[in-house]
Amino acid sequence: MSRRIRKHANPFSVTTHLGVIDRIALFGREAPLEVDLGCGTGAFLRQRAFAHPDVDFVGLEVRKPLVENLMKRRESEGPRNLAVFHASTDTNLALAAPGEVRCFHVHFPDPCFKRRHWKRRILQPKTVLRMADLLPLGGRVFLQSDVLPLAQEMYDFMAAEPAFESLLDPSMVVPSPFDERTDWERHHELVGEPVYRMLFAKRGPSSGRVSNLEFRETNPARVGSGGEAVTEPH
Ligand SMILES: C[S@@+](CC[C@H](N)C(=O)[O-])C[C@H]1O[C@@H](n2cnc3c(N)ncnc32)[C@H](O)[C@@H]1O
Repeated sequence: MSRRIRKHANPFSVTTHLGVIDRIALFGREAPLEVDLGCGTGAFLRQRAFAHPDVDFVGLEVRKPLVENLMKRRESEGPRNLAVFHASTDTNLALAAPGEVRCFHVHFPDPCFKRRHWKRRILQPKTVLRMADLLPLGGRVFLQSDVLPLAQEMYDFMAAEPAFESLLDPSMVVPSPFDERTDWERHHELVGEPVYRMLFAKRGPSSGRVSNLEFRETNPARVGSGGEAVTEPH
């Protein structure tokens, strides 16, 4: 019987603390690792795990039924090089020792339109610093969104960390460097809506400082077509 899956979960209500995960127990090995932050149904991770059996993949997701479905499918159909956790990205990025995650993925994170929810956004200046601390030199962060001001915010947060170099065109209107697709990505490609993409590589040590950039207004009703905040007329 199908269960109704809530569209949103408050990430702060999910208090799981994973610590450093036991990859030998999970995967029987310590292979290169990729982590998907807010993996949703895990469609991207499943495709990628089947296509890259030499790499291990971990997803973090706060909607529990999605995590349970994915782990059930793992048991019955595989792939065994994929594991997802009911855990918030806010407190669980350090799930492997520094240098062990080769790529973080941030696909279509919730824009959290309400101002009081901005602090729920997955990519924040503190997240950028944590990723810069955890990735090895050459490690990558891939991000995409269909919400232009949110993509601009993510670009600015990433570009403010000197450890990272942007590898794609700053217009962000570029094809995906990956063969795999997320559910949201397939939907936007199907209906012909633009997707904004960024890929950053770690080129040097992290700055050790959280940038003081602020969150942006992302609500389409309150931003101009170029993504700039529009002041309400008096
Ligand atoms: C818009 S969906 C995108 C799902 C998937 N990445 C895709 O592209 O199809 C955003 C997902 O992030 C999850 N999420 C939001 N905040 C999170 C957090 N702090 N930690 C883990 N997952 C989170 C939501 O539950 C939701 O499934």
